[in-house]
Amino acid sequence: MSANYEVRGNVAVITLDNPPVNGLGHATRLGITRGLETACADANVKAIVITGAGHAFSGGADIKEFGSPKALAEPNLLSVILMLEASDKPIVAAIHTVCMGGGLELALGCHYRVVQTGTQVALPEVKLGLLPGAGGTQRLPRVIGVESALNIIVSGEPVPSELLAKEPGQKLFDKIVDANVLDAAVAFAQEMADVHPLPLVRKLKAEHPNAQAYFQFARNMVGGKSKNFPAPLKCVDVVEASLTKKFDDGMRMERETFIALMFTPESQALRHAFVAERATTKIPDVPADTPVRDIKKVGVIGAGTMGGGIAMNFLNAGMPVTILEMKQEALDKGIGIIKKNYEAQVKKGKLKQEKLDERMALLSTTLNYADLKDMDLVIEAVFEEIGVKETVFKTLDEVVKNGAILASNTSTLDVNRIASFTKRPQDVIGMHFFSPANVMKLLEVVRGEKTAKDVLATVMGIGKKIKKTCVVSGVCDGFIGNRMIEQYSRQAGFLLDEGATPQQVDKAVENFGFAMGPFRVGDLAGNDIGWAIRKRRYQEKPNVRYSKTADLLCELGRFGQKTGAGWYDYAPGKRDAIASQVVTDMLDKHRASLGIKPRKISDEEIVERLVFALVNEGAKIVDEGIALRASDVDMVYLTGYGFPLHRGGPMNYADQVGLFNVVQAMNRFAKNPQDDATFWKPAPLLAKLAAEGKTFS
Ligand code: NAI
Repeated sequence: MSANYEVRGNVAVITLDNPPVNGLGHATRLGITRGLETACADANVKAIVITGAGHAFSGGADIKEFGSPKALAEPNLLSVILMLEASDKPIVAAIHTVCMGGGLELALGCHYRVVQTGTQVALPEVKLGLLPGAGGTQRLPRVIGVESALNIIVSGEPVPSELLAKEPGQKLFDKIVDANVLDAAVAFAQEMADVHPLPLVRKLKAEHPNAQAYFQFARNMVGGKSKNFPAPLKCVDVVEASLTKKFDDGMRMERETFIALMFTPESQALRHAFVAERATTKIPDVPADTPVRDIKKVGVIGAGTMGGGIAMNFLNAGMPVTILEMKQEALDKGIGIIKKNYEAQVKKGKLKQEKLDERMALLSTTLNYADLKDMDLVIEAVFEEIGVKETVFKTLDEVVKNGAILASNTSTLDVNRIASFTKRPQDVIGMHFFSPANVMKLLEVVRGEKTAKDVLATVMGIGKKIKKTCVVSGVCDGFIGNRMIEQYSRQAGFLLDEGATPQQVDKAVENFGFAMGPFRVGDLAGNDIGWAIRKRRYQEKPNVRYSKTADLLCELGRFGQKTGAGWYDYAPGKRDAIASQVVTDMLDKHRASLGIKPRKISDEEIVERLVFALVNEGAKIVDEGIALRASDVDMVYLTGYGFPLHRGGPMNYADQVGLFNVVQAMNRFAKNPQDDATFWKPAPLLAKLAAEGKTFS
């Protein structure tokens, strides 16, 4: 039973006890109802208090029960709340620390609420594409007003209890205390023992002086901000019902809307991403209790694009960083950019000047490797050339103390080879950040053949400390993300060969939900980067077919925004992508040279070819054990590549489409003579799952 029962004087105390946050799983719900039955049957008990053990009143639904029949099994939360309301002995919620989701709904079903300052109050269901499903949408507006309730429900963000206690006329909290909330609630319950009839939130009236205009305004605001997600607008509808409908009718509408949202692909995607994010930290052969190394000082080699951003992550976390460069000018330039980045944040009011000073004070620079000898972690971000990496790692091996972790930010080179440059390959690992490294959430943690388990565990922990989503990848060309993007780029190129324009491809993909299509990304990142990678990659793999269009573009010097021209034209100083006649002519000429008569390609085909290219490579990556699970592949794409969140990542999207249908589409593409039939051979895992009617998840 995940709830405890005791009697203090003539007050029964039911304590939710389901660590870590007293999730309202089946056993906890059962514990509450048993406690209520006992309390109601005991003539000595005059009042009841419900509270939470440990560091929460309740965090709401139990995520361990997500998607299982237990989540809905009786007594469900609605039934528990009905039972609270039916009690003729007063029930007081003693709320502290965390009161979220179902936890808040439970408290709203009690007759009274005593809260301890510092409690975080939230209804976060919208973040999973849902809305509060146990009366939150109907009861909260009745106690704090329609506008405040809608803000909480639509944002899903926590609000401190003190702020809510200040709402004029609020009836959410009957008493607020600074400490010992349980004692205060027991005393309060004793005072209320003889009150009759007991107050119920459902009996209150939600009011608004100008409801129609307000809800019109709310719909405009919420609709504009929640493109691709149906839940926020539904929240508005249901909260409006708290005003326009009788309580029971409002509850019915809440329930029906909740169930309808549960079945939307958007909610499924958000729930998938929520679970996937938590799964990334689980490494089967590296248990959670693996000892970790103490990381206090961090060295970064190279103060270029990546080195600067990487350093900022650690400075933001309050860790001292030493950056090493070859020349003073490079150091000065790199440090100047870090400072400018922080100053921009200060200007926008996102960072206080003191914080900027604190962070810059943690940063030291050097041209001398000896200054890195005491570092606990060194991250290399020098030029992407194996010879340069060799020199750097050999030097680090000589200089840096034993037990330090030596990491490389390489995006394409072999981490095992880099490790072999040292006499301590067990201490070498890849930490693949994404640009801009101080902003992007993703960190691919590349586990070499010889990487020690405690090194992996330490780096996963450090990644969490600097607020990254860490995904473990095995060693292969491009790791998880870039290996997949290669196939996506190849398809994008074939589409141009066959008759699509860069703007058509970009638009189709952007309508699907990507922030930017492949050609706009190329212009932003610099087409020369891909050019250099292709030269190396396809020299090593001469049999791989790819479109030559991107190379031709680079031969014209059209590297993208930085050269004022790429797949698009750019007006000086502007970033707007303008269709380019030069590119159109280049593509026409190229198609003619291949003897291709351009055809009209549908947006649907464009999206399917690009996304299924990711899916097929993703399946290979999972099958080979490069990724630990399909949902890790999704996290890489959601946090590092702008894959639309409402689709839940490429693998989840493929599951939604149905793997059988994905394979059917691939078979169709394989028949296209301009495409590459070998490209569309389904990965063994994909073929197997499709044949068995299964999904990646
Ligand atoms: P960058 O050219 O902006 O910076 C490299 C810096 O390293 C330069 O400041 C250079 O002076 C310095 N450097 C070169 N050799 C050195 C040495 N022996 N000792 C000390 N400093 C040295 O390059 P960027 O873009 O920062 O890339 C660095 C690494 O990060 C590469 O391995 C790259 O593949 C990887 N990477 C780059 C990403 C990007 O989007 N730019 C994304 C993820 C990884």
